[in-house]
Amino acid sequence: MDVISVIRAKRDKQALTDDQIDWVIDAYTRGTVADEQMSALAMAILLNGMTRPEIARWTAAMINSGERMDFSTLSRPTADKHSTGGVGDKITLPLAPLVAACGAAVPQLSGRGLGHTGGTLDKLESIPGWRARLSNAEMLDVLNSTGAVICAAGDGLAPADKKLYALRDVTGTVEAIPLIASSIMSKKIAEGTGSLVLDVKVGSGAFMKTEADARELAETMVGLGTDHGVRTVALLTDMATPLGLTAGNALEVRESVEVLAGGGPADVIELTLALAREMLDAAGLKDADPAKALADGSAMDVWRRMISAQGGDPDADLPTSREQHVVTAPASGVLTRLDAYDVGVAAWRLGAGRARKEDPVQAAAGVELHAKPGDEVTAGAPLLTLHTDTPDRFGYALQSLESAYDIAPGGTDFAPRPIVLDRIV
Ligand code: URA
Repeated sequence: MDVISVIRAKRDKQALTDDQIDWVIDAYTRGTVADEQMSALAMAILLNGMTRPEIARWTAAMINSGERMDFSTLSRPTADKHSTGGVGDKITLPLAPLVAACGAAVPQLSGRGLGHTGGTLDKLESIPGWRARLSNAEMLDVLNSTGAVICAAGDGLAPADKKLYALRDVTGTVEAIPLIASSIMSKKIAEGTGSLVLDVKVGSGAFMKTEADARELAETMVGLGTDHGVRTVALLTDMATPLGLTAGNALEVRESVEVLAGGGPADVIELTLALAREMLDAAGLKDADPAKALADGSAMDVWRRMISAQGGDPDADLPTSREQHVVTAPASGVLTRLDAYDVGVAAWRLGAGRARKEDPVQAAAGVELHAKPGDEVTAGAPLLTLHTDTPDRFGYALQSLESAYDIAPGGTDFAPRPIVLDRIV
């Protein structure tokens, strides 16, 4: 087999054979196919697509490039969730302990933020002492003792994806639906969860800007999971405006703890409960009551044990920013738009996110929202508070907010978009 014939086949819009796919993934993982050759193939896939059988084989080859985890020794059914990423998407933080409090085991392998979307591990690292990297044995220990673990994926899991995702990131080939679906699902299937709920985001702050693209991605991933014996369901959810009232690391941990304490913003509670119900259903725990577990403090108990088990202090003060800048409403009326992408870029520029994988993030940086679409605002009253430790970043962050919101005259009828747009099985 030679790589040039594989690249030419996809360039000429042919479906790749099983042998071609197995060979190219294996050769790339071992380093005998070069980065420039794989990037040509990734671009051909982005432009010409893949059939469902090709995507299934590509995913299987990526799973087979590394180890598979095994949770069969656990006494509880496993349930996992994956979000395709957004702005203010802190849902994993209250969700994992909540679902564990209802009887499932939640092995939540999570990632770091890149660009305008935040990463769960960056958020949790703002808790003093908390460790993202665990060995497989430590991960199982935490799962066994608390019911939930949120940690980084080990190096042995789908190494082909690790290499290919880094390459796609620097070659303009992230946005190919077959490559996104196989990347996400190879890691989730190799992780060994019995059931999986996908939160596929739609809107300016998401990868998928249109509902049609999000639906195609969701259907592809649900098909891949189901074919591999993982009970998989997807929710299409809104990412036109940030989730909750914060985008940033420590800011989002604080808001998540509020939710676990029985408070917090309505949209975060609604999405947390919707995903919890789906996860419990998929795990066969249909009678569990996540709203009760949130209200009676049992989800908070699991959170505290889970954070402590990974070296964190659940009672420690979270970092606060050295400098703040308040953006006020320029007019009175109804806020009809607050753009997720623009707020995400502002949080990133303030230091909450990174431009390159090796960059550090600021724990306290980010954006706090004082109103959400549908709220009445008053001229001169705070609309957003920007947080950073490095005030020279304010100017650049403010540029991204110049056309981030619309205010309509008071009394204008405005119905915010629902959070859950559709359910795909
Ligand atoms: N997240 C992943 O893990 N892979 C992608 O390709 C995109 C998002």
